[in-house]
Amino acid sequence: MARLRVGVLISGRGSNLQALIAACTEPRFPAEIVLIISSHASAPGLKLAEAAGISAAVLPHRERAAFAAAADELLRAHRVELVGLAGFMRVLAHGFVDAWRDRMVNIHPSLLPAFQGLHAQRQALAAGVRFSGCTVHFVRPELDCGPIIGQAVVAVYPEDDEERLAARILAVEHRLYPLALRLIAEGRVRVVGDRVEIDGWQVPEVMALNPRDGRQDLLP
Ligand code: GRF
Repeated sequence: MARLRVGVLISGRGSNLQALIAACTEPRFPAEIVLIISSHASAPGLKLAEAAGISAAVLPHRERAAFAAAADELLRAHRVELVGLAGFMRVLAHGFVDAWRDRMVNIHPSLLPAFQGLHAQRQALAAGVRFSGCTVHFVRPELDCGPIIGQAVVAVYPEDDEERLAARILAVEHRLYPLALRLIAEGRVRVVGDRVEIDGWQVPEVMALNPRDGRQDLLP
């Protein structure tokens, strides 16, 4: 079966890109990354593209419409079917987002719709939430909005600082993003209105309390 052709847009480190590349190296994985576009020439993620032998392009220092036009042309030239944003730090032109509607996904380090925008982990700590996590969602013109495909949860610890919480969330990002990509590539993900339905959807049994006090008799 033909694999879904994916283009990934990055701006920096590229650890989510690396997780996606690793997933795609599995012969039975239903997607392949055919193009990486970076908004920054110095993005470390570009080295990952090179190491994996994937075509990469740099589109730096362009205003929004010019970036969108150049990116769109490259994506189409590579016959990309799905765009994945992975630490992509530029706001995309509305026309570009509309052109790729329901064919462009993003990962964000919070349980959306909480803590949209920059420094989501810092926002979570400031709000004192007991759980946070990450979200993979289809992209809409409004920042960090759009139908949610999947989420992963981590506990927030009293001693957490931004770096520790970010690292704990990042570890689950690297599991969630390949899973979401696989479900999409298998054709199991449908946008229905503002929500996503997934064929064969299995839900884990999750019940977690934070804080706990170790006395099981207090648990429901
Ligand atoms: C991740 O935390 C992602 O959720 C956010 O930007 C960060 C990118 O990290 N959108 P990396 O470049 O994938 O390592």
